[in-house]
Amino acid sequence: MTAPLRIALAGLGTVGGGVVQILAQQAELVAARAGRPVEIVAVSARDKARKRSHDISTYRWVDDPLLLASLPDADVVVELIGGSEGVARRLVDAALQNGKHVVTANKALLAHHGLALAKLAESRKVALAYEAAVAGGIPVIKALREGLAANRISRVSGILNGTCNYILSTMWEEKHRFADVLAQAQAKGFAEADPSFDIDGVDASHKICLLAALAFGCAPDFASVRTEGIRRITLEDMRFAQELGYRIKLLGVAQDGQASVYPCLVPLDSPLARVQGAYNAVVIEGDAVGRILLEGAGAGALPTASAVVADLVDIARGHVAPVFGTPATQLRTSGVRHEARGTSENAKASGPMPQASSFYLRLAVADRPGVLASVTDCLRAQLISVQSLIQHPHAPEESAQIVLTTHVTTEAAMARALSAIHALGMVVQEPVLLRIADH
Ligand SMILES: NC(=O)c1ccc[n+]([C@@H]2O[C@H](COP(=O)([O-])OP(=O)(O)OC[C@H]3O[C@@H](n4cnc5c(N)ncnc54)[C@H](OP(=O)(O)O)[C@@H]3O)[C@@H](O)[C@H]2O)c1
Repeated sequence: MTAPLRIALAGLGTVGGGVVQILAQQAELVAARAGRPVEIVAVSARDKARKRSHDISTYRWVDDPLLLASLPDADVVVELIGGSEGVARRLVDAALQNGKHVVTANKALLAHHGLALAKLAESRKVALAYEAAVAGGIPVIKALREGLAANRISRVSGILNGTCNYILSTMWEEKHRFADVLAQAQAKGFAEADPSFDIDGVDASHKICLLAALAFGCAPDFASVRTEGIRRITLEDMRFAQELGYRIKLLGVAQDGQASVYPCLVPLDSPLARVQGAYNAVVIEGDAVGRILLEGAGAGALPTASAVVADLVDIARGHVAPVFGTPATQLRTSGVRHEARGTSENAKASGPMPQASSFYLRLAVADRPGVLASVTDCLRAQLISVQSLIQHPHAPEESAQIVLTTHVTTEAAMARALSAIHALGMVVQEPVLLRIADH
């Protein structure tokens, strides 16, 4: 057998621990598939004294993870620390500068700095592999970059954040409010103490940004991803959605060179509607292949480590692909249709999305004669036609709920109709407007 592929591993937490476990337990299988052994030669993390889930005593410990980038006996640096800046960024940059292959699960880093890092990796002729960064154990990067290379991709959409999917699934199954399910998810360790990255859609936004780059040959541009999370989703809207034949899911969607994340109504018979709990799923639509669905564990130690090790096997076989499928120097940087405000985590694209869609609208209105007619007049004035309408009887002291779905229209037209509806002076609560997915 040829010389081993030598790994320097930074980060020994959930994913790093999984990588240690797989490389130890599946050493023979991995070596057979890779054509040579894949061996860890050095490890680093923050705290040497911390008790680890797996034995790391046989590996050389390096206090400063940045030193892994210049170890003469390491071929690959595996970065499993996380974060778009700081140590992770410096380590990946230095490793690539030094001509070492890099494997990472860090979607935040690539969503923010993917273009520069891809250019660097490609100029050094080394791999920058990140299968684990999107949808954990699901091989979606490889599917888009290699398996579907013959296709013009029209759309990639999916459930990319397990925490949000868990919260939405549990709200519906147990008929609990968002805040209660979030607290329960935090207690069980499914959601972080600071859950904003997940529930405000930032994590899904990092991921769809990378899928858009692979699908459309555009540079990843996190600030251009229009992002909305699930905080405002209520059980009430879930009940109306069910009545209308839909489930509410948080989707990442890349279409027409534009990536977005938003909660939307998905038809009950769609495969995405059936994805439960912390699972992820991605639907890819290509002109030659048609529609394909990939579903599986989107996070967790072993599923994510499975993707990291797959990247290591690729590198051991000598496979170095352009990072985003298209050479980095040829990636388009003008695919952005929305105005982006700044480049920080919170500075995101705003304004209506151009993609047409059907919409779900729930209005709480004062119970006066003629309200419904006035609402439909406002919609008609914007050439929006109503597809279905629900109005349940209500107690005299309560406001009336009008729930309707529209035929396909634009977000801009809906916004104009809503401002006209507001001007009627009958709306008593902020209206709920959600897109309806056609698949
Ligand atoms: N968890 C998942 O299911 C999952 C799924 C997909 C992708 N990812 C991505 O994988 C990466 C790692 O996630 P994780 O869940 O494994 O994180 P984690 O459990 O928090 O582990 C992070 C590791 O990095 C080390 N670390 C943190 N700051 C450091 C620093 N300044 N210097 C040196 N080491 C430092 C920690 O050291 P100590 O252990 O000594 O504290 C720990 O070993 C992230 O980019 C994440 O987005 C995770």
